[in-house]
Amino acid sequence: MLGNFTYENPTKLYFGKDALSYLQEELALYGPNVQFIYGGGSIKRNGIYEKIMTVLQAAHKRVIEDGGVMPNPTLDKLYEGCRAAKEQKADLLLAVGGGSVCDYAKAVAVSAYCETDPWDTYYAHMRRIKNKIIPVGCVLTMAGTGSEMNGGSVITNTAEKRKIARVFDARVFPRFAVLNPEFTMTVPKYQMAAGCYDIMSHLMEQYFSGTDDTASDYIAEGMMRSLVHSSRQAIRDPQDYEARSNIMWLASWALNSFIGKGKSQDWMVHMLGQSLGAYTNATHGMTLAAVSLPYYRHIVKAGEAKFARFAQTVWQVRPDGKTAADIAAEGLQCLEAWMRSLGLVLHARELGMTEEMIPQIAEGVFITHGGYETLTREAVEDILQQSL
Ligand code: NZQ
Ligand code: ZN
Repeated sequence: MLGNFTYENPTKLYFGKDALSYLQEELALYGPNVQFIYGGGSIKRNGIYEKIMTVLQAAHKRVIEDGGVMPNPTLDKLYEGCRAAKEQKADLLLAVGGGSVCDYAKAVAVSAYCETDPWDTYYAHMRRIKNKIIPVGCVLTMAGTGSEMNGGSVITNTAEKRKIARVFDARVFPRFAVLNPEFTMTVPKYQMAAGCYDIMSHLMEQYFSGTDDTASDYIAEGMMRSLVHSSRQAIRDPQDYEARSNIMWLASWALNSFIGKGKSQDWMVHMLGQSLGAYTNATHGMTLAAVSLPYYRHIVKAGEAKFARFAQTVWQVRPDGKTAADIAAEGLQCLEAWMRSLGLVLHARELGMTEEMIPQIAEGVFITHGGYETLTREAVEDILQQSL
């Protein structure tokens, strides 16, 4: 049974090869000062930077350049962005990049006019926003996080070794997002695979909970099937527009709050992955990949019926003459085989985790309660040990 819920998503999407042609009319809705936010330079190498600059100039905007946003954006970078936004009176934060750039833009949006420390206020204590919010727009260059169509903003405090995901309300969602799948064609294979796994993980974390019949689960199963198919196509041929466009569309819907509505959600894989990421600064999707199988093998018994359903609907495992436990285990084998075919990292050691780090990483893991089992501290350490 679906529980009660409210659904709202204010982000306007422009999707397809012509999507950027709508940017100028969107820019016309905001004042003259645009903070142009981007990452470590990929957009300068693949020509997207020039394209954006041309539109900004045609729209007669004053550009405040804010490049150098790193993967897993840091609190120090956030302070820098806030100073620029406030001093230069940014009217719009235009994020051009992947989830890191978009998350950072949302963090600047709420933090620039925050009179107390934004880390303390919005991340460590998750307070309601009372100050002015600067609007955010996004041109997405990498598919995975869903940040282009949600209120999520993940910031890493390197001094405290804490990576915290805050989900802001609709006022902070990007007002618009330009989604041209061609812009993702230059993403390196490692990042593309990590992005695909991030999408899968978002779907699974909202799927592996509850024992009742919800439409949301059927939608998630369809999306998982499409993702498995398109990711295989994209790994074979990264220039395949059909595959890249499906992946981009799936990423937005996997985490714009739609498929999790009306049901409980798990999110333990993200909690484990985030703490691992805070200690290693590894690629987000890879941290999830490294901890997923040990986690799912830990909870499979508690959620056996759902794991058996996952095996049959997503991986077409045949149930004849098998127990639910066998079917469930076979589903996880299929998941593992697909992960291997994408070249995902299955051992946290490869991401820089050492045995000595395990107690500290475990300490930083936030325990959620929506899945099939509430983990004890001992279980968290055991799962991290298995992930090594
Ligand atoms: O920095 P540049 O030079 O642009 O390079 C980036 C970066 O090195 C590169 N890249 C992006 N688009 C490219 C490209 N390279 C070539 N061609 C292109 N078109 O890819 C690398 C990774 O980019 P990043 O933005 O870090 O990746 P992703 O989109 O996976 O974002 C990861 C961040 O999002 C957070 C993660 O924790 C992490 O900090 N998340 C945000 C969520 C949300 N807002 O809801 C949810 C997620 O679960 C996730 O936690
Ligand atoms: Zn994620």
